[in-house]
Amino acid sequence: MRDTATMVNGFDMESVDALDPELRTLVERRASLLGPAYKLFYAKPVRFVRAEGVYLFDADGQAYLDAYNNVPSVGHCHPRVVEAIARQAATLNTHTRYASELILDYAERLLATYPAGLGHVMFTCTGSEAVDLALRVVRFRTGGEGVVITANAYHGVTTAAAEISPSLGPAVPLGRAAGTPRISAVRGAGLYLAADFVHPDTGEPDGDTALRVVNGLRERRVLISATGPHGHTLKIRPPLPFSRADADRLAESLTDTLRTL
Ligand SMILES: Cc1ncc(COP(=O)(O)O)c(C=O)c1O
Repeated sequence: MRDTATMVNGFDMESVDALDPELRTLVERRASLLGPAYKLFYAKPVRFVRAEGVYLFDADGQAYLDAYNNVPSVGHCHPRVVEAIARQAATLNTHTRYASELILDYAERLLATYPAGLGHVMFTCTGSEAVDLALRVVRFRTGGEGVVITANAYHGVTTAAAEISPSLGPAVPLGRAAGTPRISAVRGAGLYLAADFVHPDTGEPDGDTALRVVNGLRERRVLISATGPHGHTLKIRPPLPFSRADADRLAESLTDTLRTL
């Protein structure tokens, strides 16, 4: 999750008093314990307690359809992944400087899926570390220092990754909406889709409407988010087990939300 003071769809602590007492206590406890870079999603934050497949479940047992969180790509808490993690944690969990075999088996399986020119594997624990390592490798290989990045890029939280992540800066404006919402473009590849909202009269990016759509979907228990320099792009990236029926539910909930704006 992005950790910027101006994160799109971030919860505003100023409105903490409006939350129901239990959620309010939780949000305040969080603010008192975690660093200020941790942000919460949504005008009314969601309290999740477990997940399974394409669903996350809140403290009341309500299921939310996940059309956003790309990290568990095979679905939340996939039994084979859970079993493999648990089995390894119960067997051996140490660093990479012993002559153990498992890491070699895994490297072989990974390399078999890579182009022939890639002959070695370096493992990292997070995307930020992977970006950091990639910068070191490419700087060493080319002797160059420059990096080309897009205007609202996010590459992670290590020093090197943050330095090439303009989205962590202060400039993520959230404009105010006027007129009827309009989607100006829909694009994507596979299960990764984006839709841009613009003001119908001016064609200007309409981040406020995108934000209302994200929160309207949250009320219908469907999870997506918005992104981009103006926060006007809906970002849809469900896990692979997302079915036709799940896609229909997302489309129906989106249509329903748009009708109420
Ligand atoms: C495009 C991109 N790069 C890098 C990262 C950083 O990954 P991690 O949070 O695992 O450090 C993220 C995480 O959101 C990301 O979306």
